[in-house]
Amino acid sequence: MCGIVGYVGRQDAVPLLIEGLQRLEYRGYDSAGVAAVKNGTLRVAKAEGKVRDLLDGLPKKVAGPIGIGHTRWATHGPPSDLNAHPHVDADEHVAVVHNGILENADSLRAELEREGVEFLSDTDTEILAHLVGRSTQPELEDKVREALRRVQGAYGIAVIDTRTPDRIVVARNGSPVVLGIGNREMLVASDVAALVKHVQQVVFLDDGEMAVLTADGFTTSTLDRKKTDKEPQEIEGDVEDYEKGGYEHYLRKEIADQPQAVAGTLRGRLDERFATAHLGGIELSARDLRTIRRVKILGCGSAYYSGIVGAELIESLARLPADAEPASEFRYRNPVIDPDTLYLAVSQSGETFDTLAAVHEVQRKGGRVLGVVNVVGSSIARACEGGIYLHAGPEVSVASTKAFNASVVAFALLALHLGRVRDLSPADGKRLITGLERLPDQIATVLEDEEVVRQAAQRFADAPSAFYIGRVRGYPIALEGAQKLKELSYVHAEAYPASELKHGPLALISPEMPTVVIAPDDHLIDKNRSAMEQIKARGGPVVAVGHSPFAGLADETLIVPKNEPELDSVLLGVPLQLLAYHASMLLGRDVDQPRNLAKSVTVE
Ligand code: F6R
Repeated sequence: MCGIVGYVGRQDAVPLLIEGLQRLEYRGYDSAGVAAVKNGTLRVAKAEGKVRDLLDGLPKKVAGPIGIGHTRWATHGPPSDLNAHPHVDADEHVAVVHNGILENADSLRAELEREGVEFLSDTDTEILAHLVGRSTQPELEDKVREALRRVQGAYGIAVIDTRTPDRIVVARNGSPVVLGIGNREMLVASDVAALVKHVQQVVFLDDGEMAVLTADGFTTSTLDRKKTDKEPQEIEGDVEDYEKGGYEHYLRKEIADQPQAVAGTLRGRLDERFATAHLGGIELSARDLRTIRRVKILGCGSAYYSGIVGAELIESLARLPADAEPASEFRYRNPVIDPDTLYLAVSQSGETFDTLAAVHEVQRKGGRVLGVVNVVGSSIARACEGGIYLHAGPEVSVASTKAFNASVVAFALLALHLGRVRDLSPADGKRLITGLERLPDQIATVLEDEEVVRQAAQRFADAPSAFYIGRVRGYPIALEGAQKLKELSYVHAEAYPASELKHGPLALISPEMPTVVIAPDDHLIDKNRSAMEQIKARGGPVVAVGHSPFAGLADETLIVPKNEPELDSVLLGVPLQLLAYHASMLLGRDVDQPRNLAKSVTVE
């Protein structure tokens, strides 16, 4: 949520900043801006809209070997040219970009206004620019320290100053900041996506840390001046992983990536001999694992829905009570933390603020949290005491697709592992391993049937609203399917347990409103058939997702291959991703950057 980027070196910073912002645009796309210093003069360009709008009107004079940039998801003040970052101080020496929210912005702003400061924007960030600009400390890093001591809240910031034009000062508290180590140049960004083209080695700042970057290297310290030692890490993956690879949209590429993504999650983790899963990131012995009495999964949005699937897998395979809860709710309800419960935080980005806050809440009360995370080195991954990396590759499109399924597969591995230290039989362990191994090819088969889905999508593009229903294992798939349709196409969609249909929602069924019924060939198929009958009897169009056609009941069936019943969820969800994609294309939506949203929600 908001992306920051910075460069200091020997090249012109601005083209690098623009390219970095384009790679970070999924974090926010309300406005964008850059600032650069050349020959002691600060030049700033900013524009409401996307990075390409900034680029279209970018004056040539905005150039120089040092600069910072920002792409914004509006929090304080509406999207506008004036509210776009970077923000500058009154004397135009200092420029600041910021990702996060300052909680005491109102009182600081009032105080500065009383002292005669005139604000040009409605943002909290402009306060930082004035505080740094007005500091009497001689060094930029000390000016920034002094300013940060005044503010409360979350920030990842980058600051430049015409009076010290050889350095960028960056700091982190709650919003990610990654340094990129180049050859006689340094970069900084909110995310490695903006760095991967230029550097191989990165350093992740911790909360409460700041860094000074010059062309020749970097130093890190805490806000109270204690030096810190940071070990550079190699970046996972390369620049192609962050590109569209011949597809028109990241979303479509990431849907297509799923066979490889799931294979990445499984790689090296299946143990045929002992019919279990090896999870090297979980340093708990079989004896420790046997002391667990409950499992609680915490995540937000689609990650939370993957957690519902995961809880059911753990409960059925390991016979441990398990449930999932939105991390955003959990953290505010003073939850009872039980030492015998294993808490799992699930997050693609590893930066979702509410999920991170839930991790801290559990840890503060002495609980044990493991992460199920895609982005290596991310805040949630580092806050947890171990866990499972998804290794699904970067997910750039705002809507989650491959990370959802990779998370489900990671939960299946964990359920298998927990099951096998408890009472899951070797035969069941082997059955699941065979099922997991078949998933990548089966997903590829689902993706081959795109034409049927494209045709079904017309119904949804024309509809004012849609229902998604499923029972037990099908219900979280209905939730995720509805989520994809609403966020990508802006068509209202609602998910319900199919068993609840008669308790209210049936009143809404009409010929205008299609219903997606998740109907795998399992012990609940007759119940799902009868739900379809009830919908048809009231004139409602039905699109079923299952293992064989529902002649006379469904107007269309999106057929997926059968796996083990525990693993069918992975396959049942894939046509619903394609359905949402095609409905959105028919409606002309921006599928990679849906309105009002941003990936990586690093604010509350
Ligand atoms: C929906 C979507 C969001 C995210 C949620 C959590 O398609 O992408 O609902 O799943 O914001 O994000 P992560 O997984 O990064 O914690």
